[in-house]
Formats: sequence, C-alpha cells, structure tokens
Amino acid sequence: MIKNIVNLMRRSSDREVEESEEVLKASLDTTRIPRHVAVIMDGNGRWARRKGMPRSFGHRAGVESLREAVRVSAEIGLKVLTVYAFSTENWKRPQEEINILMDLLVEYLNKEIDELCEKNVKIRAIGGIQELPPKAREAIAVAHDRSKNCSGLNLNIALNYGGRAELVEAVRGICAKVAENELALEDIDQELISRHLYTAGQPDPDLLIRPSGDYRVSNFLLWQLAYTEFWLTDIMWPDFKGVHLVRAVLDFQRRNRRFGGLNK
Ligand code: FPP
Repeated sequence: MIKNIVNLMRRSSDREVEESEEVLKASLDTTRIPRHVAVIMDGNGRWARRKGMPRSFGHRAGVESLREAVRVSAEIGLKVLTVYAFSTENWKRPQEEINILMDLLVEYLNKEIDELCEKNVKIRAIGGIQELPPKAREAIAVAHDRSKNCSGLNLNIALNYGGRAELVEAVRGICAKVAENELALEDIDQELISRHLYTAGQPDPDLLIRPSGDYRVSNFLLWQLAYTEFWLTDIMWPDFKGVHLVRAVLDFQRRNRRFGGLNK
C-alpha cells in the first residue's frame, strides 16, 4: 500500500517535471535559440557522497543527465552541445575512478549510438584522444564513423581536454605551417586560430552551464568562451534535468549581449 502511494507520488512528480519542461519549451523564442551550449558536468562525486554512495554512483547518474541534455538539445534545435567529460587534470584522480569513467564512456557510446544516429546527432570527441585507453579510442572511432553523416545536433564530448593544451596544439600546428611556408605570419589572425582548435568550423559557445555551485572555468574552452554567457547553478549534475537546460536557455534569451559594444 505505502509502496503504491510512494510510486504514485513519484510518477506524479515526474509528470510535473515533464510538464514544466514542456510549458517552458513552449515559451522559448525559437528565433533566438543559442547555437552552441557548453556544459561542465560537475558535482557527480558530491551528489553521490551526500547519498552515502561511492563516487561511481554519481558518475553513472551523471550519464542519465547527459542523456537528458542531449535529448532536449536536439528537441530545441541546438546546433552544438559540448560536454566536459574528462579534463587533462582528471588523470590525477585514483586509477579506479579513471577506469570507471572510461568504462562509462565506452558503455554510453556503445549503448546510445543507434539512438543518437536516429536523432541525427553527430559525435565529435575533442581533446587528446590519442592518449585515451584503446577501448575508449575504439568506441570513439566507431561513434565518429557511425554518426559522420548526421546533420542535426553536434555533440562534442571533451575527453582528456584542456583549454591550454588545445591552444598549445593549435600554436604548434600553425608554427609548423609557417615553417613549411604554407602560411605567412600575416595570415595569423583570430579566425585562423579558431580553425586550428578542436572546435574548428563550429560557432563559439553562446552559453556555458556550470552546475554544482562552483564558479570556475576549469580550463574549459578558454579561447572559445571569450563572449559566452554563463549560467551557474547549485544543482548537482546528476539532478540536472531537461527542464533545467530549458530554464538556462530561457534565461539566456533575456540577456543583453553587447560583445563589448553598446546597445542598439
Ligand atoms: C565532475 O564531477 C565530473 C567528471 C570529472 C566526469 C563527468 C562524467 C560524467 C557526467 C559521466 C560520464 C561521461 C560520459 C561521456 C559517458 P566530479 O566527479 O568532480 O564531482 P565533484 O566535484 O562533486 O567531486
């Protein structure tokens, strides 16, 4: 009896979340959908600890939030969603946690690839992919290949990613071309640098979402975030649902972006 009531309550609260997501979605200005949203998926560990569970429990729950974010991004017509899954600094974590994160990545890609392709989602792993374990590289290669003709949402998964490392790589690439006389010094401008980043060909993020109450950029998309709007929340990533993404986008639509200029 009590179990039934609890289930009923759970179902009706799920319905409320769904309904408010639908209501909020309907109030979006479809002419001002951000082209690119970036997310620092933070707070998995603290979320799990608060529940007396191991950190891995939080990461697994974080994958569910990622699924939600991808679903809503595709539904509202985002062009690019970039998620920070593993930074160049995350190698400092215990090997056991690193293994869990790599296993989750492989599981996510293998399990989701059919549905992602059905949703027309194109996957791009950004970061030092060559330094990831072979099974992660294989799953990424398959996901790249399977989704290469998709033309809807571009899902960038930042793995072994660091904004500074990305800039170092770009500088090296440009210098090599200058040394080979493929480029002249005068050819180097902001556009050219953007074209040498992992996000080449994609617009810079319009909106950065950081859950979990920290106010840091954490070496994420350092070049690309120059004029990005920030949306910070105390919600831990595993509790971040589709409705929160819609709220962030609605809030973004109320911002007055001047890019260093004046109001029109
Ligand atoms: C930061 O939270 C989160 C990470 C380092 C990993 C993010 C990974 C996922 C959401 C799931 C796996 C991803 C894929 C692509 C399948 P934290 O662990 O540092 O949390 P804390 O700050 O509370 O300790």
